[in-house]
Amino acid sequence: MANVKFFSGEQLPLEMHKVRIIQKLYLPEIDQRLEAMREAGNNTFLLKNRDVFLDMLTDSGVNAMSDRQQAAMLLADDSYAGSETYFRLESKVKEIFGMNYFLPTHQGRACENIISQVLVKPGTIVPMNYHFTTTKAHIVLNGGVVEEIFMDEGIEVESNHPFKGNMDLDKLSGLISENGPEKIAFVRMEAGTNLIGGQPFSLENLDQVSRICRSHHIPLVLDASLLSDNLYFMKIRDPQCADLSIRDITRKMAELCDIVYFSARKLSFARGGGIMIQDEAIFKKFQTLIPLYEGFLTYGGMSVREMEAMAVGLEETMDMDMINQGPQFIAYMVDQLVKKGIPVVTPAGGLGCHLDAMRFVDHIPQNEYPAGALASALYIVSGIRGMERGTMSEQRNPDGTEPLSAMELLRLAVPRRVYTLSQVSYALDRIHWLYENRALIGGLRFYDEPSVLRFFFGKLEPVSDWQERLVAKFKADFGDSL
Ligand code: F0G
Repeated sequence: MANVKFFSGEQLPLEMHKVRIIQKLYLPEIDQRLEAMREAGNNTFLLKNRDVFLDMLTDSGVNAMSDRQQAAMLLADDSYAGSETYFRLESKVKEIFGMNYFLPTHQGRACENIISQVLVKPGTIVPMNYHFTTTKAHIVLNGGVVEEIFMDEGIEVESNHPFKGNMDLDKLSGLISENGPEKIAFVRMEAGTNLIGGQPFSLENLDQVSRICRSHHIPLVLDASLLSDNLYFMKIRDPQCADLSIRDITRKMAELCDIVYFSARKLSFARGGGIMIQDEAIFKKFQTLIPLYEGFLTYGGMSVREMEAMAVGLEETMDMDMINQGPQFIAYMVDQLVKKGIPVVTPAGGLGCHLDAMRFVDHIPQNEYPAGALASALYIVSGIRGMERGTMSEQRNPDGTEPLSAMELLRLAVPRRVYTLSQVSYALDRIHWLYENRALIGGLRFYDEPSVLRFFFGKLEPVSDWQERLVAKFKADFGDSL
């Protein structure tokens, strides 16, 4: 890893790459932003990208590829069955993870569909360090129940615990003895735990979870979608990993698991997905579903070009200089916000920087969607698109009441190697201004509310004229600045 100290004493994240292809960005003026937000029903998923300056909605499928990945895409071997591209990818996956079998899929949730269809039986339980939306949906669809057994620190917004994604081992053992191991479909560990702020688990924790699973013959499944962030944090925060290379840590993690799956929209800076399996019997069951849902066994619904990019991207993930940009930029954002007293999830995780809307706009009741309101306000004052992760993302109870979310977060994902430090500084500047003017932000209410996954398509309106007042204050403070 590059070790560069600054004479000034300031520690800035320094990229070990340069940009050679650019995409022009536009920042519409504030009246246009207000209009775009209105048209999108105050739902950032419904904004058009042409109206967005910095797209921090997600880090999925939007990370910058390397020159080598782009070059490899030209060498792809396009054939329905038995392409050279497949064999290149398969051998890279096996070389890095050391697992016996590999199946390609079109993205992460496709792996979850296949794993759940085979392993989840009605009435079975899937314990996990934390759920992800698509994972839980597939398990529930197959009649299973998700049990989240995170440590108490996992959902504390402010903490200095280095591994908030760890599983609580006592709770896991308790759950197994209460229900019997035959009731546990599998145990799932999610690297870089998405919904609690991209928080990692430690190698030791995975080791102990694995021992418990093996002693009860329960399969251990690793969701490696956010593995590169987890690897970075293991390397810098876990004394046990200090002398190991990223490749060694990856190998050790895989050895502890029975199944490893990933979204290549995140891991490998490409698009697609895959499942690795140790056991032949499980592999054969999964294998029969691939042609049914994905495509033939040697492409799994992916384009061969993306598969070539994946193979190179996986190799590059073993290089600390290629994976540290995201977590280092996020740490920079979090540090700067903490210095200004702006409430944010700590310690800094992977994936993105998460503003704590519960405290940022503590005057907005949860049934007026504080994180959604903050997402709307931030877009209006900056053109930055974040993602609500709070009550708006929950599903209303059958009796019409709102299940209030434990956390109200505005996720500002940091697509890897895409934005520069000056763009991040712009984001910090506008967040700071918004924090100083937070009293102007008001709540939202649905006027078009789908019954399922309402956060994707639902439309909301402000409960008052707060958005016009916010725009007026912006103009008073910034004059004719965009
Ligand atoms: N697992 C994790 C931990 C994820 O973060 C995601 C996707 C998936 C599985 C599903 O993968 O999208 O390829 O089907 N997360 C995206 C996000 C959608 O924005 O955080 P997919």
